[in-house]
Amino acid sequence: MKKSSNISGFYKLGIQERRELLKEFADLSDEDLGAGLSLESGDRMIENVITLFPLPLGIATNFLINGRNYLIPMVLEEPSVVAAASNSARIARKKGGFHATSDDPVMIGQIQLTDVEDPSMSRIKILEAKGDIIEKANDQDPLLVKLGGGAVDLEVKIVEIKSEAMVIVHLLVNVKDAMGANAVNTMCEAVAPMVEKLGGGKVTLRILSNLATHRLARARAVFDKDLLGGDEVVEGIYKAYKFADADPYRCATHNKGIMNGIDALAIATGNDFRAIESGAHSFASLDGYHSLTHYEVNENGDLVGSIELPMACGTIGGATSSHPVAKLSLKILKVESSQELAQVMASLGLAQNLAALRALASEGIQKGHMALHARNIAVMAGAEGEEIDIVSKILVDEGNVRVDRAKEIVQEMRNSST
Ligand code: MEV
Repeated sequence: MKKSSNISGFYKLGIQERRELLKEFADLSDEDLGAGLSLESGDRMIENVITLFPLPLGIATNFLINGRNYLIPMVLEEPSVVAAASNSARIARKKGGFHATSDDPVMIGQIQLTDVEDPSMSRIKILEAKGDIIEKANDQDPLLVKLGGGAVDLEVKIVEIKSEAMVIVHLLVNVKDAMGANAVNTMCEAVAPMVEKLGGGKVTLRILSNLATHRLARARAVFDKDLLGGDEVVEGIYKAYKFADADPYRCATHNKGIMNGIDALAIATGNDFRAIESGAHSFASLDGYHSLTHYEVNENGDLVGSIELPMACGTIGGATSSHPVAKLSLKILKVESSQELAQVMASLGLAQNLAALRALASEGIQKGHMALHARNIAVMAGAEGEEIDIVSKILVDEGNVRVDRAKEIVQEMRNSST
């Protein structure tokens, strides 16, 4: 039987019940679910460790991507984000879910050549030796080459800075299922002397670019107008998108909302979320800072959303392989390649953006935040089981989300039931 990620009321379950459901969905053992980072392992990851810093890992439900069901692990500190993603995924599901694609995992390594006498000739000579440079790069990583990856191409451009011209070489490397920084940096350092000899001048930087324009991920989905709340909400979302696309002040927040989801999944899977952030915003800045998502209204009045952004994420190497919770996340996702993970990332980013715009264009985002806050207050006031929902609803309806009021309500409920 195919397991569906379409789970209603997941949020109403207790932690143990959610874990049981997840065990069933992703074929997990108790040991898998008990995963956690030890202080000793943390000490091997970075320098000067003194303690660990746990964050909650929540599960976004309802995702259907390219016909496959996904439960998506998300690590972050901000309330409402996981619920918002799940809700968008539920809406997208009605019209077939997300359709996502991703490029081959090709990263760019940059080699900077300065003090070049004749930049045009330098460029030509480096390009003439493209085959030799690629061969030298591939000598550094026979395993990657064996797996079908490795350096695949070379580009050379001249960058004019005031009166000086620099020659910049881009080594394009297919890094397969890794994020790829180590492989690319090693190759760039190895071929730098060749580049220097061919091009003249002096090599300075040899480093990966986080603007991974050859490694883009895309997703699209149709969001049913009735589930969104009707024509007015659709129009509001569309106008909100247009606002972001035209105004960098709004666009920064709009794109931040997209990254709420993507970063949370990047952290859950042990990926370098700073690299992904940097790639996303620099990509959005090409030709003027713009929205990473795009929306149209179709002939039925439904909203058609899409997203495209660089996605340098890996499923092997670094913390993805060494952090026990990252390994658990990858097991929950059951992704088979970095490209598949990139597709989930893009779909989640689109879902997150849609949810934010929908809330902003209708009731505003504070209501959702308040509902969650009210649940916490109800629990703090001693509410248990079904009482939690009832108390939090009364708090929100009264517009008075305070512990003393929650305590009164709990007391009144208990008195009236005895
Ligand atoms: C908050 O973390 C994210 C939002 O501000 C995104 C947006 O405004 O689109 C809600």
